[in-house]
Amino acid sequence: VRWLTNTDPALRAAWHPVARVGDVGDGPLGVRLLGEAWAVARLGGRLVALEDRCPHRLAPLSAGRVEGDTLQCRYHGWRFGGDGACVAIPATGPDVPVPPRARCATASVVEHLGLVWLAPETPRCPLPDLPELDDPHFGPVELPPQTWRASAAQMADNFLDVAHFPFTHAGTIGDPDDRLVHPYEVEREGWVVRAVHRHRAKALVGEAAPDGPVEEVIDREMGFTLTAPHHVVLRLDYGRDGRMVLAFFHQPVDDDTTVLWCLQAAENVADGRVPTDEARAFQLRVAAEDRDLLERLEPKAVPLDLTAEVHTRADRITVELRRMLADLVAAGAR
Ligand code: FES
Ligand SMILES: [Fe+2]
Repeated sequence: VRWLTNTDPALRAAWHPVARVGDVGDGPLGVRLLGEAWAVARLGGRLVALEDRCPHRLAPLSAGRVEGDTLQCRYHGWRFGGDGACVAIPATGPDVPVPPRARCATASVVEHLGLVWLAPETPRCPLPDLPELDDPHFGPVELPPQTWRASAAQMADNFLDVAHFPFTHAGTIGDPDDRLVHPYEVEREGWVVRAVHRHRAKALVGEAAPDGPVEEVIDREMGFTLTAPHHVVLRLDYGRDGRMVLAFFHQPVDDDTTVLWCLQAAENVADGRVPTDEARAFQLRVAAEDRDLLERLEPKAVPLDLTAEVHTRADRITVELRRMLADLVAAGAR
């Protein structure tokens, strides 16, 4: 049975968030992805990602500095262009040619949704969409990145799961009477999976509360969009209590570690019914319930062979996650 871990080579040909756009300042930023280190920098206004290991004596280039449109190693001052090629070696001067092997690997890197996304190999799957972030009807709720001891695929599996609310989330959104999962459809188009699920959940609502927001059990529609390999966008519709988007983007750091980049925006935050701080605190409590359980799962991987676990019709969307991940692995093997 093949288990997908955070360092599976199939994940190299996909986009992963590694930082906020604002984290890349005047100097290089060191990030870890799929067990590898990268130096992200703005060279001559262009965002680049170079292998974070100077080919000379293997010093991290993220410890160096930006010099014009090059990244300069702090150890002996070799300078590298955005294509990874060394363009200057101070110790030998401009008249001696640079050895051809003096170059580092590069990755694709883009800015999207306020985050820096990196793909070590040409990505097969698209970047996830979240147009609500630019919609003034949705008020953004800034959430800090969180480091979880779980794999990105396990976390996506959890954020797509529709049967765990009354149990894992008994303390927040879960309604103890909302156990039955109604049949729902799952659609796959290329590297994107969509599903819609309706149920009852507790939510933070503000309209009826003179003393501020309260938690109330209400009907909600959950629209799931999964973009390969494991980026989840939830579109929650609470009827008269408005709509909310929640994005769970995953940075697989090492086999045991994933950084969760969660983006949230809600209509009842934009119109002032729910204060941003309370919306944030509620979402952090929900995530803490997931995290406390997820970090107990071993191994830190998801089996791609469907016979390794037991599935029911309530798990159709998470079964589709496994199928898509298996397809990504197969595409990499071709
Ligand atoms: S280790 Fe980078 S210049 Fe020597
Ligand atoms: Fe959950």
